[in-house]
Amino acid sequence: MALKGLNSVDLKLILFGGKGGVGKTSCATATAIELAKKHKTLLISTDPAHSVSDCLSQPIGNGIHVVEGVENLWATEILAEQVYADFKKKNEQQLKDLFKTSTNLDPDDIDDILKLSVPGIDEVMSLKVIIDLIEEGRFEKFVVDMAPSGHALRLIASPLMLDQWIKVASKMRWKYRFMITSFSGSYKQDPTDTMLLNLKKTVKRIESLFRNSKKCEFIPVCIPESMAVMETGRLITSLGDTGLSVQQLIINNVMESDGCSFCQKRKLSQQKYLAEIDSTYSHLNRVIIPLFASEVKGLERLNEMISVLF
Ligand SMILES: Nc1ncnc2c1ncn2[C@@H]1O[C@H](COP(=O)(O)OP(=O)(O)O)[C@@H](O)[C@H]1O
Ligand SMILES: [Mg+2]
Repeated sequence: MALKGLNSVDLKLILFGGKGGVGKTSCATATAIELAKKHKTLLISTDPAHSVSDCLSQPIGNGIHVVEGVENLWATEILAEQVYADFKKKNEQQLKDLFKTSTNLDPDDIDDILKLSVPGIDEVMSLKVIIDLIEEGRFEKFVVDMAPSGHALRLIASPLMLDQWIKVASKMRWKYRFMITSFSGSYKQDPTDTMLLNLKKTVKRIESLFRNSKKCEFIPVCIPESMAVMETGRLITSLGDTGLSVQQLIINNVMESDGCSFCQKRKLSQQKYLAEIDSTYSHLNRVIIPLFASEVKGLERLNEMISVLF
């Protein structure tokens, strides 16, 4: 079977996830190249160990860059730490004021607190970069190469984590607002309120995109090996809780040749897991990719992967 439905006009965001080393970057990059044949496409890496550049055999890095040799395709590697540092710099005073107006902490303690990260915020800020780009409308398709499962799930759960923090922060503010209103009779929204409100809006925008199966799809990548199959199971279960749509599954590195005894053994050991995947995920569109003789690096090899994926 081939990947289905990715050319649908409504579908904007396609996320590739799975265990480390199973072929996420290769599949995401190949998919982005295929989609670029019909749509202006942006390939985004959110894996701190960025490897889109290696896969394409050309430098990408921070910022949006043209992918040489592929018309209609751009790529970017998001640096979550940088994005969060920018947010903190821009909102430093508001964050300080939040604690100053709502707690009895002295300025040194507040500085110490601000050195700790707000739960989920760096991940949410990376997602905000993506959602802003989607809403800006410069590109029609966004293909995301994610970090391995644990990190990817943290990214996906980050809006919920940040939302809980916002609720507590807003409660702290409520007491402050109540005090001001009691003394002066009125209260005007200040920059700290605006920051909290904007964070809340960002969380809501991300949650509604994730829950919209027409706009957003998560494609897990797996290989027919014990640990990868187990991790895929946990990933798909966790994704179910987040409301993200999973409709298809890529099974990579499938041994096709049985021309030598090594190949025969590998093929035999994969049979069990392929059968397990087939029965557990019969409801998903399953796409098999053979183990190629060489790594998937550079446009020529990526085209080989595209011919199997689509
Ligand atoms: N079907 C395949 N056949 C041969 N090599 C592959 C295949 N898929 C991926 N690879 C290679 O395996 C390595 C890991 O793939 P990659 O896409 O970087 O995985 P991930 O992003 O999940 O860590 C890379 O060197 C890649 O070129
Ligand atoms: Mg990768």
